[in-house]
Amino acid sequence: MAQNHIECISLTMQYFSKKNTVTAVDNISMNIGRNELVLLKGRSGAGKSTLLSLMCGLIKPTQGKVIIDNECISEMSDNSLSSLLSDKIGIIFQSFNLLPTYTVFENIEIAMVPKGLHSGHVRDNIFSLLEHFNLKDKAELMPSELSAGQQQKVAIIRTLIKQPSVIFADEPTGSVDDETAKEILEHLIHLKNDKEVTLVIATHGNIPEKFADRLFIIENGRLKK
Ligand SMILES: Nc1ncnc2c1ncn2[C@@H]1O[C@H](COP(=O)(O)OP(=O)(O)OP(=O)(O)O)[C@@H](O)[C@H]1O
Ligand SMILES: [Mg+2]
Repeated sequence: MAQNHIECISLTMQYFSKKNTVTAVDNISMNIGRNELVLLKGRSGAGKSTLLSLMCGLIKPTQGKVIIDNECISEMSDNSLSSLLSDKIGIIFQSFNLLPTYTVFENIEIAMVPKGLHSGHVRDNIFSLLEHFNLKDKAELMPSELSAGQQQKVAIIRTLIKQPSVIFADEPTGSVDDETAKEILEHLIHLKNDKEVTLVIATHGNIPEKFADRLFIIENGRLKK
């Protein structure tokens, strides 16, 4: 396998409430190689989104560590993590998290603010991705004026525009038709093949396993052997 890009070491995540404790991720260890496409598959509630959120540092584990490019992101300061997230980690969320009072174009452009808006270049790149995903005529609309599938594509473009070296995608084809799902997957595979991006994709099962270099099945927060 290629050099490790992401290492999860004995990761556990428990959610505590007054009534009960849920162990969403239960002692998971895995290594993901640079430029690998890994599929995390499991039923609803299995722990996929929690595992992805741990891997990209959005939540801190109850126990264990996540290491990306030899840096322990689960113990990083908020400032260092923010710069990592704006620089080399791209996240495609299960819920699209578009800003309701910004246009489609602005929702994408905002991802580039930490890197700097060298306007002509960014604008051209945004329009070329909007065109690629058949959204060019929607640039000035608000997210509420788009279908769920179109919103999902905007959320994906917002991640792609930063050209991250690792992308965590949570059900990236969950709200689109089969044809659009194929286009999204083809684009992600192109990023792996041509841009050497590492991809970790969570799915219930609507992404065919043949696209993955490796498949991990998650059941009740554990990796199935
Ligand atoms: N913020 C939270 N607070 C408390 N419990 C949570 C929280 N987030 C997730 N859980 C619980 O953790 C478990 C795993 O949830 P998670 O969202 O990781 O599953 P998932 O595999 O992504 O499911 P789906 O396929 O439906 O998106 C579930 O039992 C869920 O109820
Ligand atoms: Mg989920």
